[in-house]
Amino acid sequence: MNYSTILLIGLVVSINGAITYKIGSEVCSCDTFSTSADCGQLASSCEWVSNECQDINCTTKTTIGDCNKNGCAFTTASKCEKKTSCANYKYDSTTGCNNIGCDAGTKGTDNLYPCKDFAATTSYIKDCGTYTAETDCAAASCKWSTKCVPKTCADLTQQTCTNIRGEVYTNRTLCTWDATKSVCADATTGLTKSQCLSYTFGTYSWNEDSSVCEECSSSYGELIITSVVLINLFL
Ligand SMILES: *[C@@H]1O[C@H](CO)[C@@H](O)[C@H](O)[C@H]1NC(C)=O
Ligand SMILES: *[C@@H]1O[C@H](CO)[C@@H](O)[C@H](O)[C@H]1NC(C)=O
Repeated sequence: MNYSTILLIGLVVSINGAITYKIGSEVCSCDTFSTSADCGQLASSCEWVSNECQDINCTTKTTIGDCNKNGCAFTTASKCEKKTSCANYKYDSTTGCNNIGCDAGTKGTDNLYPCKDFAATTSYIKDCGTYTAETDCAAASCKWSTKCVPKTCADLTQQTCTNIRGEVYTNRTLCTWDATKSVCADATTGLTKSQCLSYTFGTYSWNEDSSVCEECSSSYGELIITSVVLINLFL
């Protein structure tokens, strides 16, 4: 690999020195993680069992409390299974349905609430420019300025200064708090260990050996992040 290759890749992800990255298409598989703490970061789909980070095994859960979360659901036969369609479950409280990501229907003669899908809601992961209502624009984390456009880091407060979406939902720009100026500014260095998984919605993981945040489904992850670092040395 020569420098022109590095620069070319770096330019795709580094605009005006800002660090941009793309949320990956796949969540990291549980076996990516080798410690209980790292495994716990993806608690919605992985669990630490027998010193390994494994896919959550619904069948090992014996109570509704342990079962009704993280993609599992308790059946009327008191078995915990991988959640299928909402219509397959009923519970003695509406919370039972809510805990498996379903709405509750009207209580039946059996005193149980049948679960059902929530009514379709607006999708907030479309391009900013597609929203024509100010409230939808804000809910999609874009900003209204006669039309719906992407935010800049400077639009964020100290509490929300993490990263912003681009016009395209999956294109993100990393932000960092500049305490000297009290503004949220474009970051100049890449995703840190503590930001790696959460800022990428679980699609990147931290490589301890190389100390870079790498996309799980892509072997180019390391190359891209490395080149961002290089680019920023040149800018
Ligand atoms: C889940 O756990 C059960 C009970 O321990 C075991 O028999 C089964 O093989 C496990 N399934 C997976 C996919 O690991
Ligand atoms: C999103 O990012 C990709 C590179 O990952 C870039 O090619 C594309 O132009 C970006 N789209 C927008 C609208 O910024």
